[in-house]
Amino acid sequence: MSVPAPGTSPLAGLGVTAPVLAAPMAGGPTTAALVTAAARADGLGFLAGGYKTAEQLHAQLAEVRSVTPVFGVNLFAPNPLAIEPAEYRRYAETLRPLAERYGVELPPEPVEDDDYWEQKLDLLRRDPVPVVSFTFAIPPAQVIASLRSLGSVVAATVTNAAEARAATDAGVDMLAVQGWAAGGHSATLTPRRLPEPVPTAVLVATIRDASRLPVIAAGGLATPAQVADVIHAGAAAVMVGTALLRTSESGASAVHQAAIADRSRGETVLTRSFTGRPARAISNQFTDQYDALAPSGYPALHHLTSPIRKAAAAAGDLEAVHLWAGTGYQQATPGAAADILRALSTAL
Ligand SMILES: Cc1cc2nc3c(=O)[nH]c(=O)nc-3n(C[C@H](O)[C@H](O)[C@H](O)COP(=O)(O)O)c2cc1C
Repeated sequence: MSVPAPGTSPLAGLGVTAPVLAAPMAGGPTTAALVTAAARADGLGFLAGGYKTAEQLHAQLAEVRSVTPVFGVNLFAPNPLAIEPAEYRRYAETLRPLAERYGVELPPEPVEDDDYWEQKLDLLRRDPVPVVSFTFAIPPAQVIASLRSLGSVVAATVTNAAEARAATDAGVDMLAVQGWAAGGHSATLTPRRLPEPVPTAVLVATIRDASRLPVIAAGGLATPAQVADVIHAGAAAVMVGTALLRTSESGASAVHQAAIADRSRGETVLTRSFTGRPARAISNQFTDQYDALAPSGYPALHHLTSPIRKAAAAAGDLEAVHLWAGTGYQQATPGAAADILRALSTAL
């Protein structure tokens, strides 16, 4: 497998020379400080636009821009997974004991939304950013073309060769290849099926055969040797999420950080139980009890379980919180993000 020559990645044009980048992590973990730390390490960090309003994203963009011009923005592209109201109510009923325990109300009917898609696209068109990446869906070709015409490098997150070909045909500049081992939501375009258990380095090699586009690869990368494997498989750069969750710049909640630091916790699982879309989390009582019961349904299940997860996190009870983590979470250490990113590149 050929390694892309230096300079073939559009990131080189932005002055990004480090091979290990900071992946977007919505819901709190990605802070402006984490993104600017990645730039300080000659890399790139992605602001996580997911769950934010356009105004919140705008404020975070201003914070980052006051420190560095080099950053990316990640958005959830709409790929709604509709759920029948009866199926929704059946799952909601199984959650009632937890809702009662935490004294919270759950939405009685499915709540659907598009995560302020048009508003955030408008923001990125009014105020273009160096790099835009998408997860959950490949946006329409005209959306990609409009961002590119404003000077943004556009990446789509893909989880297999077919998705890589679709993203290439839609006109993106780069592929963010996400392996099965990745923490948080899978980017899969077909979320009613769980992603295939393929090691990230193998997936990169397969996708390099399927597309000519440069690849940023992510998923379970926790050691310098794992990073080197993936770069040797043909990735132009890698991204890490979980490895940054315990850093000084991480905005991950106290319960999340405590779970990542706890060497006695078990495996991670790919589960729909929290949001109705496959996501990798450290197993806890919630995943043990609800994984087998949960239907597909995004974002309805995200909104359904959110009051329970928020109340549990506020109470310091990590057994009912979504503890997003990749398979390598036990290697995550505290420290400055820039140091951790640099340390991960030392086997190259
Ligand atoms: C807490 C958390 C939140 C995440 N949120 C996003 C997100 O908003 N957008 C996205 O494209 N990927 C998201 N991901 C996936 C990461 O971008 C990346 O693919 C993953 O962290 C790589 O695997 P690793 O966690 O094993 O390093 C998230 C991952 C985690 C752990």
